[in-house]
Amino acid sequence: MQKLLIEGEHPLEGKVVVSGAKNSAVALMPAALLTDQKVVLENVPDISDVGWMFEIMKQMGTSIRWQRRGAVEIKAGSRVIPVVPHELAKRLRASSLFLGPLLARYGKARVSFPGGCEIGSRPIDLHMKGLRELGAKIWVEHGYIMAETEGLRGEEIYLDFPSVGATENLMMAATLARGMTIIYNAAKEPEVVDLANLLIMMGAKVKGAGTDVIRIEGVDSLSGTQHTIIPDRIEAGTFLWAAMACGGDIVVEDVIPKHVEAVLRKLEEAGAKLHVGGDSIHLSAKGRPRAIQVKTLPYPGFPTDLQPVLVAVMMKGEGTSIINERVFDNRFGHVDELKRFGGLIKSDGRTAVITGRPRLSAAPVTASDLRMGAALVVAALGAEGVTEIEGLQYIYRGYERFEQKLAALGAKARIVGIDAAV
Ligand code: EPZ
Repeated sequence: MQKLLIEGEHPLEGKVVVSGAKNSAVALMPAALLTDQKVVLENVPDISDVGWMFEIMKQMGTSIRWQRRGAVEIKAGSRVIPVVPHELAKRLRASSLFLGPLLARYGKARVSFPGGCEIGSRPIDLHMKGLRELGAKIWVEHGYIMAETEGLRGEEIYLDFPSVGATENLMMAATLARGMTIIYNAAKEPEVVDLANLLIMMGAKVKGAGTDVIRIEGVDSLSGTQHTIIPDRIEAGTFLWAAMACGGDIVVEDVIPKHVEAVLRKLEEAGAKLHVGGDSIHLSAKGRPRAIQVKTLPYPGFPTDLQPVLVAVMMKGEGTSIINERVFDNRFGHVDELKRFGGLIKSDGRTAVITGRPRLSAAPVTASDLRMGAALVVAALGAEGVTEIEGLQYIYRGYERFEQKLAALGAKARIVGIDAAV
């Protein structure tokens, strides 16, 4: 069993380059199914969630390959089998993002109910409701979502919640539907905009991505293109908050500052000194972070994916912090494991109250989801002694070369133990 050992209380110093966004990569890869021509995605991170999407598309019969590090080339011909088997779908929730493109291009899809991290109930009712409104017949059989259509047609769709995945699925489906689709209360996340930009470069007629009303006028077919995906704003935020946990002076490079606006505001409230450049952010911090109050919200609000990391940092806050989780109904599964560092945290389904302490102590801990894994690393960086972290497979889902990047910043981090049989 591999373990990540981190000796805490060493400040982070130096530069770290952000990788391509996981939540763009897993949405843009399925979009390549919308054309029979070659689509090349650049700046794709080498993480296991991308690996699973790659495997699913390979098994479907697309021709997919790494042209070189970071560049995935996909060509989906007519022989694609529009099925996502349970064995693979259960690996990640993004497997639900095959529904829209498969329906639009092949007129049918069979996708096992998605899996992914354990954070609250993660239904896909909004995806299914929207696809039905576009003219798909959708039912559930033996744990599979079955979908078929004689041809999708444009429709006005209102999302009860600005769901990122539902917006992405419906936007992809609508590109080849007959007529105009309007998605109201659409998600505005940068990854949704990145997907829209790819679709537009493929010839789709998409307007309004990044606002809460997206208009898609269907076309007969789409063509291939080349597209560089955006940097990972959650990885960028993870490193910035990590420096708050143990102090330091770091520069995060290849980031789009606008994508982390809410995060930067909260970092300043917590006492960070920031210098923001065109594609880099310089942060310096020393001593304990100031306690803050945060609500996680859909973009452009504070991102829920940084909430676990924030709880970890605020265990050493000067004062009491209150963190309100407004996106997921049960995303404090990391609190019990974080308490093993000595953190004083009280949480119910939606709110965590953290009484900061001057020092935390290292502990053996185990990650059971991706962002919890990041939170355990951040807590370890600020704890006295050597922390042993298991469950590294969760961290590898979304952070490319995480321990190498940390070590390059001066963290005393190293992997021990043999590679567990996958
Ligand atoms: C995306 O998940 C991200 N994943 C998540 O990141 C992120 O936390 C989330 O958006 C919110 O920003 C990817 O992009 C692959 P949602 P998604 O649909 O699309 C409810 C990470 O760590 N909902 O916006 O699944 C849902 O239960 C991951 O990188 C419905 O009720 O999120 C949740 O409470 C974790 N019905 C809320 O909406 C639906 O049909 C937000 O979900 C869909 C969603």
